[in-house]
Amino acid sequence: MKIAISGKGGVGKTTVMALLADKFQKQGKDVLVIDADPSPHMAETLGIDNIDELKPIAEMTQMLSERAEKTPGSPFYQINPKVDDLMDKYMIKHKGLRLMVLGAIQTAEGGCACPENTVLKRLLTKLLLSPSQVVLLDMEAGVEHLGRGTIAGVDHLLIVVIPTNSSVRTALKIQKLASDSGIPKISFVGNLIQDEEDKVFLIEALGEKPAAFFSSYSAIRKAERKNQPIADIIDQLGDAPDLLINYLMAQ
Ligand SMILES: Nc1ncnc2c1ncn2[C@@H]1O[C@H](COP(=O)(O)OP(=O)(O)OP(=O)(O)O)[C@@H](O)[C@H]1O
Ligand SMILES: [Mg+2]
Repeated sequence: MKIAISGKGGVGKTTVMALLADKFQKQGKDVLVIDADPSPHMAETLGIDNIDELKPIAEMTQMLSERAEKTPGSPFYQINPKVDDLMDKYMIKHKGLRLMVLGAIQTAEGGCACPENTVLKRLLTKLLLSPSQVVLLDMEAGVEHLGRGTIAGVDHLLIVVIPTNSSVRTALKIQKLASDSGIPKISFVGNLIQDEEDKVFLIEALGEKPAAFFSSYSAIRKAERKNQPIADIIDQLGDAPDLLINYLMAQ
């Protein structure tokens, strides 16, 4: 299963992904988290402190251009060893979780044809998964990145939305672009919900019920301020993380 997350800036994308990473891992899944935000901070949210050892793939421009040139145009769906070995090289392991940081991907105007993007796209589409594997892709805010290759091969896009007009506008724009680009399943996740009115607002504005509603938790704010991994406080968040994970597993 490959799940990507999107939404307006600061709505809680990285937080929700870190919660999912923890829950999937507790379900016995082999979890790979890919931080595709040009200003990555998934490592902190997961509590990984030796992140300096990990170089973002996008910074390896020389290596990426060489790979792009050597990529054969095979029509068969198979793991290209030239991409497959990157998995081990550019990944950090932490308490059973694996994290890969893509970094800032160069883009050209009017759609990117740069070699870096070609290799990254290939990497994401060629990640062959067994049922016990889950890839979680944390992305930058907004809609611009949806035209790039990073979202290729994703099975399910989660759009995090908070109960404000501007967040809903971005969420609906993302939904439209994602559905145009052929992502098979797209769902909303409500975050920073304070009351029933917030839920009703989102359901009406989005035209559908989000897959889960997360409240505004003081436990999350406190953990963030103490640089504490989100997994440490997950038990204080009620049943929302479980509801979301069950929903995703049922797809
Ligand atoms: N349900 C919640 N309750 C309380 N605080 C939250 C909740 N969700 C997120 N936060 C806090 O809100 C802030 C923004 O969250 P987060 O970094 O996950 O958002 P983001 O969408 O990934 O942001 P960016 O667009 O910058 O990548 C963080 O400080 C996080 O701890
Ligand atoms: Mg983020």
